[in-house]
Amino acid sequence: MNFSYTEEQIAVRDAARDFARTELLPGVIERDEHQKFPADQIKKLGELGFMGLMTSPEYGGAGLDTVSYVLAMEELSKIDASASVCVSVNNSLVCAGIEKYGNEAQKRKYLVPLASGQSIGAFCLSEPEAGSDATSQRTTAIDKGDHYLLNGTKNWITNGNSADYYLVIAQTYPEKGHKGINAFIVEKSWKGFTVGLKENKLGIRGSDTHSLMFQDVEVPKENRIGEDGFGFKFAMSVLNGGRIGIAAQALGIASGALELSIKYAKERKAFGTEIAKHQAIQFKLADMATQVDAARLLCLHAAHLKDQGKDFAMASAQAKLFASQVAMTQTVEAVQIHGGYGYVKEFHVERLMRDAKITQIYEGTSEIQKIVIGREVLK
Ligand code: CAA
Repeated sequence: MNFSYTEEQIAVRDAARDFARTELLPGVIERDEHQKFPADQIKKLGELGFMGLMTSPEYGGAGLDTVSYVLAMEELSKIDASASVCVSVNNSLVCAGIEKYGNEAQKRKYLVPLASGQSIGAFCLSEPEAGSDATSQRTTAIDKGDHYLLNGTKNWITNGNSADYYLVIAQTYPEKGHKGINAFIVEKSWKGFTVGLKENKLGIRGSDTHSLMFQDVEVPKENRIGEDGFGFKFAMSVLNGGRIGIAAQALGIASGALELSIKYAKERKAFGTEIAKHQAIQFKLADMATQVDAARLLCLHAAHLKDQGKDFAMASAQAKLFASQVAMTQTVEAVQIHGGYGYVKEFHVERLMRDAKITQIYEGTSEIQKIVIGREVLK
């Protein structure tokens, strides 16, 4: 593993940092408060190539590596985790899933607009009764010859209303368990597809999280991804990569909290001097910096393995498990360092603390990551 970044990776990181400061920071508090999706910002991110960062240029993407993606995700997430989750889902679940497992026609029709930022994608696995237990899909896709008939409900779907295309996981042969599950590309405009109410969330409030309803939606056969019954394996494989994105998001939330804490500690005076001069604060900052660096190394390790074409399932679960813990614990510390100012919106750390929690829940809870890691350890 190379511990220094290439010029290209540095350029991507710096571009993401600039964008976050100039385009995401203004209005981030208001978007959080009013649950406003950052539509203009996502459009601009698309124009700059961030929505298809790892997709091949042949299909409208930027063709960059996973390390660059981690660096970009960290920078965007320092400022606006609501925007960064949209970037992450589009990149590492939707675009990566179609690029790896879709056929040529699916790539031309769907991947090109998704990777070039003209369209947004969503990944629809979770259901009211199937979150961690992803094999228990209640949504059905019945084979009707030239099409499938899709019925069911999906919950907590990121980009739920803003997406144009949805990767939907559904059960075709219940008797076959996970081997009877399929994955489909569904278009928003199709008859019988309804976007439900927006969730009123604790954190990432600017992100667009909805339930989705499918009532006799006719999905053409050519929109199934992979062989009949490949849907569960598809979802698991795609989630391995998605977890690198969420790990990097958690890393960004934590490192953003660290940067704000350092700045505040140098400015705020108490007991006759800057609080940074007090050991109580220095110890906290030292712990934060160490945790953040360790999280970054795990994220980069997972990204590096993926870029090398090696098995990265365990590494991505480890990165997500650890980085999300770091995000949660260290944003709490950041609020503590800020004292009363940390508890109000203007200082940003209370938002980071709220945003951190979801990184321990979505794309597999911390307990799911431990299952994935435990199984690998015991192999
Ligand atoms: N990578 C590749 N393949 C995997 C895999 C992985 N990480 N995990 C399981 N599989 C494969 C297994 O090898 C097995 O294949 P075979 O039949 O060929 O042996 C098959 O999938 C079934 O596996 P299991 O028997 O292990 O399945 P299980 O029911 O025990 O579940 C689980 C395993 C790891 C718990 C899985 O259900 C899981 O990951 N659950 C969490 C789901 C999740 O992350 N949901 C998040 C929703 S998406 C989201 O949040 C997106 C968003 O909007 C932000």
